Amino acid sequence: MSERVALITGSTSGIGAATARRLARDGYAVALHSRRSADVGKKMAAELKGASYHQADLGDEAATRGLVAAVVQHHGRLDVLVNNAGESIRIPHADLKAATPAVWRRMLIMPANPSASRMPTSRPRRPRCGGACSTST
Ligand SMILES: NC(=O)c1ccc[n+]([C@@H]2O[C@H](COP(=O)([O-])OP(=O)(O)OC[C@H]3O[C@@H](n4cnc5c(N)ncnc54)[C@H](OP(=O)(O)O)[C@@H]3O)[C@@H](O)[C@H]2O)c1
Repeated sequence: MSERVALITGSTSGIGAATARRLARDGYAVALHSRRSADVGKKMAAELKGASYHQADLGDEAATRGLVAAVVQHHGRLDVLVNNAGESIRIPHADLKAATPAVWRRMLIMPANPSASRMPTSRPRRPRCGGACSTST
């Protein structure tokens, strides 16, 4: 229970998966997460020492809060939060109007209520470290 714990949202592929593997190598117990790809998440959790996998659609505020609660319940603590989940959507420079609010929501996973952040903690662009650390991709 004394191992530092890192929750990496959207960690079944891409940047999130690479971040999770790196943090696991650095000695963190990683809490893996995704929206749909549960098989991949469970396989990764079996490969990484002390890891767990949690499924939640972060477009749903209640599910988002449930994710954090599930991680704390499983690991007993949460030291690092990497806000990574989101879709990479390419917008051609010649068609910037294609970046509609709906597209931004898919990329940033903003809940329906825009005054709420996408995770219960804030989402600063730079790491803010002390007792806990939160960062984003
Ligand atoms: N800062 C930068 O310059 C930069 C550059 C590129 C990307 N990014 C950001 O980095 C993040 C990862 O990019 P990537 O290309 O590595 O993505 P990716 O390979 O497509 O992986 C996306 C991950 O996020 C999860 N996800 C997507 N929508 C979700 C939702 N509504 N609820 C919960 N999980 C969700 C996916 O789960 P499922 O597969 O199960 O759906 C998957 O695990 C994105 O947020 C992207 O916008 C930032």
